[in-house]
Amino acid sequence: MKGLFDKTGFKNLELKNRFIRSAIHEGLADSQDGSVSPEILNIYEEIAKGGVSTIITGFAFTVEGENPTHRMLAAYDDRFIEGFKKLTDIVHKYGVNIILQLASGGSQAKFNYRKRKIYGPSAVEHKFTGITPIEMSGKDINQLEHAFGDAALRAKKGGFDGVQIHAAHGYLLSQFLSPYYNRRKDEYGGSIENRARIIFRVFENIREKAGEDFAVLIKINCSDFMEEDGFCFEESRFVCKKLDEMGIDLIEISGNVGLNQTEPQIIRPDVHKDREKQCYFSEYAKKIADDVSIPVSVVGANRDFNMMTEILNDSQIQYFSLARTVLCEADVVNKWDKNPGYEPGCISCNQCWSLKHGNICIFNRKSS
Ligand SMILES: Cc1cc2nc3c(=O)[nH]c(=O)nc-3n(C[C@H](O)[C@H](O)[C@H](O)COP(=O)(O)O)c2cc1C
Repeated sequence: MKGLFDKTGFKNLELKNRFIRSAIHEGLADSQDGSVSPEILNIYEEIAKGGVSTIITGFAFTVEGENPTHRMLAAYDDRFIEGFKKLTDIVHKYGVNIILQLASGGSQAKFNYRKRKIYGPSAVEHKFTGITPIEMSGKDINQLEHAFGDAALRAKKGGFDGVQIHAAHGYLLSQFLSPYYNRRKDEYGGSIENRARIIFRVFENIREKAGEDFAVLIKINCSDFMEEDGFCFEESRFVCKKLDEMGIDLIEISGNVGLNQTEPQIIRPDVHKDREKQCYFSEYAKKIADDVSIPVSVVGANRDFNMMTEILNDSQIQYFSLARTVLCEADVVNKWDKNPGYEPGCISCNQCWSLKHGNICIFNRKSS
């Protein structure tokens, strides 16, 4: 029987258990340029002490000036490497791996949008933000692929154990996958193979620059859950199989494009009250884990130790990603280690988003 505290590994990473902290944008990187700040160092040290085997950072932007939200981590220049080293050293002290999540925003976010050039696969108005992006030229796409590769090399130089490509939740790479947002007629649009091409090339660019020994993960939607024309489950299975063949190291399964209320949402509310609502992407992740040879992690209200143990033993899913529960209690994994019946303190109120405080759980804010 498999257990959540089994020691496992993939690529050249050793994992002391099967819990991965899923990416959380804290909104607390340096306010001037997105460097690692003292607040970020403190937060990650607490998480590293708290028991997870691996931490995926909040999303970091790869092209100067295109940050989709405030005070996010930056990875577009070599000057960020020094801060990366401080962050990775602190986390490694506790025998924990750390992965830098790399992202590109597109029209999904309204932050500073009048002052930025917002690019997209096609000039299609965003359903929720109302932003119509500039359609990317072939050259723009090629530059972005290189920007991800360059950022990955910086992550490697900064001591990260790997990078995660953020291709989920309606951000730019996720929009390329979507037939609604991607209406291109060139090699980046049309068939699912074409819509996923930018992701395949981002991956190849990262491999080329950061090398074979550097772990590359991806976070991807199992489906956009849009009423029409979204990236659907069968297409997600196709992309995951292809990435497996190409040699990606781990796939984290999420879903939905955010901002709309279609179930299951990225960050489903009220999951603490209703066990039926928990582990909400696991049925999709199980099928993807059957399709691929590499490890799959599933995210989304993984709150019940017994439920996760059952999923682990009923499927090929190998890891469980946790976001809000760790935001609320950095040491939730240590608590499960002592008492598997422990019920996490997070009340899934989704009040963690805060421009004023940074994305800190309401129970952990120092002042109101
Ligand atoms: C405050 C906050 C910030 C988040 N930032 C990111 C991010 O930077 N990148 C990402 O892929 N997901 C991000 N997410 C989504 C989580 O990684 C995760 O997919 C989602 O919260 C569901 O998992 P949970 O039920 O364990 O919270 C964020 C979620 C929250 C609550």
